[in-house]
Amino acid sequence: MASITPLSQSQFTVSSKLQNHCFSIPFSRFTQSSNLTLKKSTKNQFSSIPFSRITRSSNLSLKKSTKNQFFPVPFSQSSKFSLKKSSRMVLVSATTSAHEKSKKMYPGEAKGFVEEMRFVAMKLHTKDQSKEGEKEPEGQPMAKWEPSVDGYLKFLVDSKLVYDTLEKIMEKAPFPEYAEFRNTGLERSEGLAKDLGWFREQGYAIPEPSTPGLSYARYLEELSEKDPQAFICHFYNTYFAHSAGGRMIGRKVAEKILDKKELEFYKWDGDLSQLLQSVREKLNKVAENWTREEKNHCLEETEKSFKFSGEILRLILS
Ligand code: HEM
Repeated sequence: MASITPLSQSQFTVSSKLQNHCFSIPFSRFTQSSNLTLKKSTKNQFSSIPFSRITRSSNLSLKKSTKNQFFPVPFSQSSKFSLKKSSRMVLVSATTSAHEKSKKMYPGEAKGFVEEMRFVAMKLHTKDQSKEGEKEPEGQPMAKWEPSVDGYLKFLVDSKLVYDTLEKIMEKAPFPEYAEFRNTGLERSEGLAKDLGWFREQGYAIPEPSTPGLSYARYLEELSEKDPQAFICHFYNTYFAHSAGGRMIGRKVAEKILDKKELEFYKWDGDLSQLLQSVREKLNKVAENWTREEKNHCLEETEKSFKFSGEILRLILS
């Protein structure tokens, strides 16, 4: 039986958002001890614990990262984990048998590995990008962006290079599991080719790919041949980010500089949420064959995905 720790409500956030609700406790305010006692710590981080604070246990092997990277910490099975709210305090209780104690769960794990990837990705957003974001905003908020057509064209050209690369890799499938992700309906290469054609017709010169796109494409090619778990992280983040924040960006830019024209980049054949769901299911299936270490390795790659994609996004403002 794990200990019960009363916490004042002001120190304890329980998110109402269904997708994350199991693990929306500000974990990082606690340090984890072996018998699942939650102790309050001083920092104000939400649902993530810096690697450096994680004590290694026999069934939890995490590589320490060089930077201040955040990583979800596995918790006891969510089904055994209940939150009771009273007017003055929240009780955290967990009943765990000796056997269950050894079976830790990661944030999102109960729903499948995609939810774990999403959990890590959402934290890497800035607070002004998403309410689930944890990073401090840097630069102009999107509402104040002043994009130029030239900058946007650079972004579209580099994005096309990245999607061409991902889609070619899936065709070639140096690892057989990549073949699952051919013709998912999420492909963006063809749409982008049409969009660049449209800009050409309007009299714009289409630039050559620039450093952010070229570096990312090269990185993806190398990774795809030697590190399928890390590669799949980029696949997930690239396509899913585009379907979420990417569309918001597209709408904003179109309002400001394209007279609201909707580009093919932002149109999908069929129902987008169904296409995404079907890819989620395939990703979950592929990851079922991964060890916990391989899954953690995939999750750790998320930060690189943000770094590369962020550099391409910034071209819009160049
Ligand atoms: C200006 C930049 C960005 C903005 C404004 C933005 C905004 C958002 C928003 C609003 C969501 C939806 C959250 C929800 O489900 O309620 C989201 C989801 C997501 N974003 Fe971003 N994002 C940005 C950049 C990125 C980048 C660079 C990546 C990684 C390459 C990324 C990866 C994701 C992922 C994986 C999801 C989850 C999608 C899903 O669950 O279907 N985002 N983003």
